Amino acid sequence: MATDLTEALEALERDGRALIAEAESVDALEAARVRLLGRKDGRLTAVLRHLGELPVEERPAIGASANQVKAVLQAALEARAVELEATRPKVETGPDLTLPGRESWQGARHPVTLVIDEICAVLSGLGFTRVRGPEAESEWHNFSALNTPLDHPAADMHDTFYLSPGILLRSHTSPVQVRTMQAHQPPIRVVAPGMVYRRDPFDASHAPAFEQLEGLAVDEGINFVDLKATLAEFARRIFGPRVEVRFRPSFFPFTEPSAEVDVSCLICGGGGCSACKGTGWIEIMGAGMVDPAVFEAVGYDPERYTGFAFGMGPARIAMLRYGIPDIRLLYEADIRFLGQFS
Ligand code: PHE
Repeated sequence: MATDLTEALEALERDGRALIAEAESVDALEAARVRLLGRKDGRLTAVLRHLGELPVEERPAIGASANQVKAVLQAALEARAVELEATRPKVETGPDLTLPGRESWQGARHPVTLVIDEICAVLSGLGFTRVRGPEAESEWHNFSALNTPLDHPAADMHDTFYLSPGILLRSHTSPVQVRTMQAHQPPIRVVAPGMVYRRDPFDASHAPAFEQLEGLAVDEGINFVDLKATLAEFARRIFGPRVEVRFRPSFFPFTEPSAEVDVSCLICGGGGCSACKGTGWIEIMGAGMVDPAVFEAVGYDPERYTGFAFGMGPARIAMLRYGIPDIRLLYEADIRFLGQFS
């Protein structure tokens, strides 16, 4: 009887080792543990059930052997568990093939650049050539040659960014008129977009640096009808054929007579809304006939030549066109905003 049990324990140890070594997964290893050492139906339990059938004096030796076999199999189970853990593929450290792909970045033009290019294209169709001038400008080009005395409020240190005595960041694109006329003889038709600088607060409708766009036409026999016809046609091509255009008397030192140009409100169509402050009109530019004093400053004969000039803010036109409520959005370089125009 005792020899039967000893043999059974030896067989259990042998079979158990083989079973454990063959387990290729954590689940298979657990199944082996239950088969060998499971409390209810395990093989060790089955052997120990016969312990009571032995004479009392033989029981301790068999009991000790049973405990030894149990310890051996438990150690083998633990060792195999460590092996399986080490060889398990580590999916979480490899590339996650289920992630969505990354979209490639696509550059796009800034909304103000879009508007500038569109305005230049329309004016190109009317015969205007695109030109540029420096942003650091002389007092003479920015003010004096444009019939603006240096004691004019616009020339004041508090309204303008001076870089050194006599040199400043241009406060408008009108000095490009002067530079163009100094460099070329009439007939002239140019459009000059670029940045201008003013000591304005940075709020919803002002920026200390912003784009302007200047136009200039000079020839013999140009009159106010040319100015009106050109700018009305320009407005129709930019804002659509049904837009209405109105000229209001105004003043600029370098044009005489001068006008502010309004278009019928694009939002309400002229009925009056918050965008046009209830007036039905929105101002889009300043304009006028070139003052003879400007022709004298650049050496043109004011008896022979006449011309017209106009200046507008493409950022404001972009805001109208796209319904942008705050000018600062245009200068914050926020991809979430700019991406809407690509
Ligand atoms: N330079 C003017 C301004 O900045 C605009 C303007 C340009 C007016 C040309 C008339 C003619 O306000």
